[in-house]
Amino acid sequence: GKSGYEHYMLKEIHEQPRALRQAISGRIDDLATSVDLEVDLPTEYLQSIEEIQIIACGTSYHAGLYAKELLETHAEVPVTVHIASEYEFRGDRDPWRTLVLAITQSGETADTLSALREAIRAGARTLALTNTLGSTVTREADDTIFIRAGPEIGVAATKTFVSQVATATLLTVYLGQVRETLTSQAATEFLESLRDLPGAVQQVLDQEPTIKRAAKTYADSKAFFYVGRKTGYPVALESALKLKEISYDHAEGFAAGELKHGPLALVTPDTPVIAILTDQAAAEKTVNNVKEVESRGAAVIGVASDPAITTNVDTMFEIPACGPLEPVVANVALQLFAYHVANKKGRPIDKPRNLAKSVTVE
Ligand code: M6R
Repeated sequence: GKSGYEHYMLKEIHEQPRALRQAISGRIDDLATSVDLEVDLPTEYLQSIEEIQIIACGTSYHAGLYAKELLETHAEVPVTVHIASEYEFRGDRDPWRTLVLAITQSGETADTLSALREAIRAGARTLALTNTLGSTVTREADDTIFIRAGPEIGVAATKTFVSQVATATLLTVYLGQVRETLTSQAATEFLESLRDLPGAVQQVLDQEPTIKRAAKTYADSKAFFYVGRKTGYPVALESALKLKEISYDHAEGFAAGELKHGPLALVTPDTPVIAILTDQAAAEKTVNNVKEVESRGAAVIGVASDPAITTNVDTMFEIPACGPLEPVVANVALQLFAYHVANKKGRPIDKPRNLAKSVTVE
């Protein structure tokens, strides 16, 4: 049941600290120095990978974009992320040196399965990242890592997104160590931010009344634009998808720097801009983009851990610092924002029109 929550989505949002603890449980040693993913990926193989291709749809695709940033930076392996329905295996190197990572909560998404089959036909090695034991993807991929989020009933993916990113972080540390691209100090910092993540998410959940008030203030806007940089960018895309899916409002995510290359023409006093101001360096640049939209009269909602960065915004969601996983924490605040906008409008949040939890047609 919904354990007293009005919707499964809200219940699942609140389950995230527990889901995240499950995702890392037993996979990080006490001293936060190493990772055990319970998967049979031989060291020599991981050292020999020349490329990772990620295939996924929707929210899982956004988790893939986040994973790309982490993997390329810390495991120094080139990563391409593909919308599964657009995927084609290309390249003339030994296909086995390409690891194809299929990210799918349900393990049953037709587009993702058909991309996976394309990769298998081409001779790539395949790895599934999924929530669902016994799902089709687990039977067809060479190996599987489970995200352990527990069942997700709401059509809008919430806890599975954060668990996908947490598990991809474990994979990054594992690969970075095997490939000797990550210092032990950096590995420990990563693993400590993973351990801090459930507590940080809980602190955001405790701010629900503030976020709900903001949702009421902005609910009747004409459109909502989300901007971020680096790992804040996939979170902008994901937060926009969540809002459009459940509220039926027009919402779009952009790389903050792209605003001035076109979307700025859409910005008016009636279109709030939600700025993910997480990574210190990236946030400073995003602040400049925020100034551009403010001068067009748009209201700005800032999400940041550093209050100094957000002094000029109209509304601010202050989140706890959480190292490379801070954008995940920002996402949780924006899940609540989307939920309360949709709920104010009386939308059928757990079953939005036209959508299915698992999309089994191409
Ligand atoms: O089960 P999957 O992760 O493969 O599902 C992929 C998408 O259909 C899914 O993430 C969809 O975008 C969600 N409803 C978004 O909230």
